[in-house]
Amino acid sequence: MNALTENLEVIILAAGLGTRMKSATIKILHRAGGRPIIDYVLDLAREISARPPIMVIGHQREAVRKVVGERARYAVQNEQKGTGHAVLQAAALVEVGRHVLILSGDVPLTRPETLRRLLAEHERSQNALTLLTMKLDDPGLYGRVVRDATGAVTRIVEARDAPDDEERIDEVNAGIYVFDGKRLFDNLRNLSTHNVHGEYYLTDLLGVLRNAGMSVGAVIADDPIEALGVNSRADLASVEGEIQRRVIAKLMSEGVTFRNPATVVIDSTVAIGNDTVVYPFVTIEGKTTIGSRCVIEPGVHLTDVTAGNDVHLKTGTVAENADIGDEASVGPYAHLRPGTRLGRHVKIGNFVETKKAVFGEDAKASHLSYIGDAEVGADANIGAGTITCNYDGVSKNPTTIGKGVFVGSDTALVAPIRVGDGAYIAAGSTVTENIPADALGIARGRQINKPGWAAQRRREVAASKSKAAAKPPKRSRPRPRPKAANPRRKAAPARKGSKPARRR
Ligand code: UD1
Ligand code: MG
Repeated sequence: MNALTENLEVIILAAGLGTRMKSATIKILHRAGGRPIIDYVLDLAREISARPPIMVIGHQREAVRKVVGERARYAVQNEQKGTGHAVLQAAALVEVGRHVLILSGDVPLTRPETLRRLLAEHERSQNALTLLTMKLDDPGLYGRVVRDATGAVTRIVEARDAPDDEERIDEVNAGIYVFDGKRLFDNLRNLSTHNVHGEYYLTDLLGVLRNAGMSVGAVIADDPIEALGVNSRADLASVEGEIQRRVIAKLMSEGVTFRNPATVVIDSTVAIGNDTVVYPFVTIEGKTTIGSRCVIEPGVHLTDVTAGNDVHLKTGTVAENADIGDEASVGPYAHLRPGTRLGRHVKIGNFVETKKAVFGEDAKASHLSYIGDAEVGADANIGAGTITCNYDGVSKNPTTIGKGVFVGSDTALVAPIRVGDGAYIAAGSTVTENIPADALGIARGRQINKPGWAAQRRREVAASKSKAAAKPPKRSRPRPRPKAANPRRKAAPARKGSKPARRR
């Protein structure tokens, strides 16, 4: 840190609601890359200055405080009378003599290097104000940076207040400024509200300082995306896209392979080890950590998951709040719900759902099962279609399956229930009593075989068919039905000479 950054106060403007978002939620709490956008601005402030930033809050201040917590000091702007008025609210918290860096809470993509360049220029030129600008093909609603014939910055004009010739200017204000603190606050009170919005524009200060003979300068950001402000959902999508690109570029630089990065969504809070391969259409969210040499197949969706090394997550696997041990394999189409913990080399196969289930090393549930509120010992094998009946309509009950247990297919384990180490359960059992270690539990109806029954049935069926064939055929054209059938009347005798119906 140099003299300026040590002596730097950071103000983050965050009181505005952001009406163009058309949202019930203040714009700085909208999320991109899995975090509220204000988080990125707070990270930036922390990189640049050791002092906690001063956040100017107004709309939804309690919600904002809850998210930001101790990461900032707060100044309240009760009425949103403009960016100039917002900065004024922070005056009491700024120590005299400090330089002031002003960031917008809705501009999350600025890189620390860019701010350092801005600060260096401010220090070198001894400006009263140095601002960050960018050049845009479509300058939209950003404030236009007006320069004189010598190239010096003279003022900023807001898009809505700009005459046509100035509206065409392609250099715009990024909303990021470094001020000499004293000159900032001495002049803030001199702003007027003669503009389309009737607000105190911080941007008007540039003209005020210039007119008072002070020097003002600008640094142009190399990459305009760094100054993208989130004012609309379209802006939010652009910010999300850029965060995705940055997250994936960083992971690639750390040795992760993406087979089609454009289709993958990964939060900025995710860590992935080297030589892991991520297939297309994967979503990884929250505090997820994945080890090295893993394979993440298409359609996998992970939220707050920890996976070890050499893990194979197959197509369509969904996992939330789960721990997956080294060398485990999960899916295709498995659902690991919160509280699932898989030990080393566990296999969870297709259409298996787990919840609060702890699997010991090498345990397997390969097909079509629900294992909830359960402990499954090492080396146990859960047969296809096994269900833990963990819910009795009132509470959830535990199932404990010992080490090396073999659970036959289609077993229902009615919890609470314990199966001792090394036990076997016969397929199709509905287990309602504990099974001791090394025992065989059978809990199903006993099978009876009836010798010859099927052959006898076939003969009966054949006989009844030939009897039916011998019966007189039906008339080919239906006769009109009698109006009211008399049930007691005898059936009419068959007519002579009618031909048997032809079989089709
Ligand atoms: C502002 C600039 C514009 C610049 C753009 C860059 C002004 C007048 N205009 O426009 O030149 O190109 O940023 O993104 O400054 N805020 C408050 N209190 C208020 C008003 C705003 O705290 O009374 C906060 C907002 O929450 C936001 C920031 O200040 O975080 C900027 O305000 P916003 O309304 O987004 O201004 P822009 O129209 O984007
Ligand atoms: Mg804005």
